[in-house]
Amino acid sequence: MPDRNLTRLTIRRPDDWHLHLRDGAMLRAVLPETTRHFARAIIMPNLVPPVVTAAHAAAYRDRILAAIPEGDTFTPLMTLYLTEATDPKDVRAAHAAGIATAVKLYPAGATTNSASGVRDFEKVRPVLEVMAEIGMPLCVHGEVTDHEIDIFDREATFIDRILKPLRKKVPDLKVVMEHVTTQDAVDYVRDSSKNLAATITTHHLIINRNHILAGGIKPHFYCLPVAKREAHRIALVQAAVSGDKRFFLGTDSAPHTDALKLQSCGCAGIFTAPNTMSCLAEVFDAAGKINKLEDFASLNGPRFYGLTPNEDTITLTKGDPVSYPAHIDTEDGPVTVFDPGFDLHWRVEE
Ligand code: NCD
Ligand code: ZN
Repeated sequence: MPDRNLTRLTIRRPDDWHLHLRDGAMLRAVLPETTRHFARAIIMPNLVPPVVTAAHAAAYRDRILAAIPEGDTFTPLMTLYLTEATDPKDVRAAHAAGIATAVKLYPAGATTNSASGVRDFEKVRPVLEVMAEIGMPLCVHGEVTDHEIDIFDREATFIDRILKPLRKKVPDLKVVMEHVTTQDAVDYVRDSSKNLAATITTHHLIINRNHILAGGIKPHFYCLPVAKREAHRIALVQAAVSGDKRFFLGTDSAPHTDALKLQSCGCAGIFTAPNTMSCLAEVFDAAGKINKLEDFASLNGPRFYGLTPNEDTITLTKGDPVSYPAHIDTEDGPVTVFDPGFDLHWRVEE
């Protein structure tokens, strides 16, 4: 039986397999919130303009490295933003030089800053074939963008329309279905025999669509893919706490200033970097599975990416509720921190 009385837990230092750090003042403000607890992160390339080439990724990596707070150790694992003009040779060279860990696929128009994404999947097939050959994973934002498809169905439709045919054409390609939000995606990953994994965010383990829409609209709970109904959230929790090696943490921590969130057309994205480990520990503990937190946050991700887990550890302790600031200040304005809506009892020892 899992130990509900456990009040202290030491795990390998976690990694975040899907993170938005932005650039400039925002990068400097949000990066310490991740480097405090995480050793590595897959860095999303949806800047304006996007991080498309090896040269862009190397320059962005250097800006991130320059912003790491003194005393912290952190390795940004860079991604290239896949466009229909991406050169397979550049991808191969970026991977060989250790500049890029993965390639990111945004269907054009799917989310924040995705206008340069892919419309015609045949055009990117040569890139995907090179990636399959060299073992470089494709990180996928799995939502169709057609306006006639209901926003709550866009992930499930993407699996049938795009992902299944794509994986059939390039079966050796390693694919990470990112920030999965549905039972459909969980089932698809579970039923696949190889080369497929999924990240799950902190917030999708905690909120469902009622949190966004019932009793007044809550822009700080709006993100893409949008949270679905409760049955889907439960499926995500079950997958996360199961220990199944194909599911691991990608916070999708996506900071936007309050000014950009709180307007008539607010941005999608939830900022979870500061309190993610406390939130996750609460969720795993409530499920009686705190002993699986290490698999989800620290072991399954490196395993899929072919990297070794971190050598050092963090220790979480359970006690009186721990509080986090409601927002962090940036030169661009305040950024609201995710509010899980319940007390957090687990903290990471500093
Ligand atoms: C992300 C962002 O703000 O860059 N937003 C979000 O809602 N998750 C983009 C993304 O990952 O879809
Ligand atoms: Zn994201």
